Amino acid sequence: MNLAGRREVRSFTRRERPLGPAARAVHERLWEHLSLPEAQWARLGEGSRDVVLDIGFGDGESLLTMAAGDPGRDYVGVEVYRTGVIKVMRGIEERGLANVRLIEADAHELLGKIGDGRIAAIQTFFPDPWPKTRHHKRRLVQERFLKEVVRVLRAGGLFHMATDWAPYAQAALDAVKAFPVLALEAEERGARPCTRFERRGLRLGHEVRDLRFRKAP
Ligand SMILES: C[S@@+](CC[C@H](N)C(=O)[O-])C[C@H]1O[C@@H](n2cnc3c(N)ncnc32)[C@H](O)[C@@H]1O
Repeated sequence: MNLAGRREVRSFTRRERPLGPAARAVHERLWEHLSLPEAQWARLGEGSRDVVLDIGFGDGESLLTMAAGDPGRDYVGVEVYRTGVIKVMRGIEERGLANVRLIEADAHELLGKIGDGRIAAIQTFFPDPWPKTRHHKRRLVQERFLKEVVRVLRAGGLFHMATDWAPYAQAALDAVKAFPVLALEAEERGARPCTRFERRGLRLGHEVRDLRFRKAP
């Protein structure tokens, strides 16, 4: 509920079955080492290393590959889908990655706690498109989210969105116009690996768009 007593509109649905014993054991063993406790969210980006936020990392294909190829920066993944969180914890352990931490929460809760101008890059790949008109209000990338993105990004920071849903790309481009400090720099995927949701979109014949916005220096 928000302060007016209204239920918040969420960009996700809880779709999970209870964890099995093996998944629970992995969670219990690794969570303490690989999560970023809420008490530390407010200090994110205060240190000397650049921080990249991956919002809605799903099964973590992008997060794991990008963090492995970029050891000089810290990657923080935020996701509400616990099965994905567990999969990625396993991946971090298997690859021996020291530069990834995970947060299991609604990205809005995290963003609201981060200080101004702290984050080097924010990426959200294939956020749920919510194609029905009555569900558009559930899309992650819209004014409320962009306001926080603009606030927490440092000058010169990058916001990178990828989607296979053309109307969502257009809606994001339209919404960004309200934030002149954020400019479309390029439509390039860069080092972003292909993910399950991207493969699905391609199978369905969708065009994939990468939108890279840069905050003014
Ligand atoms: C379609 S999946 C894409 C996953 C992944 N990025 C990929 O490309 O394969 C979108 C993910 O965003 C997550 N998500 C949606 N809203 C979120 C929010 N407000 N905070 C954190 N995660 C969110 C969902 O749980 C889901 O796993």
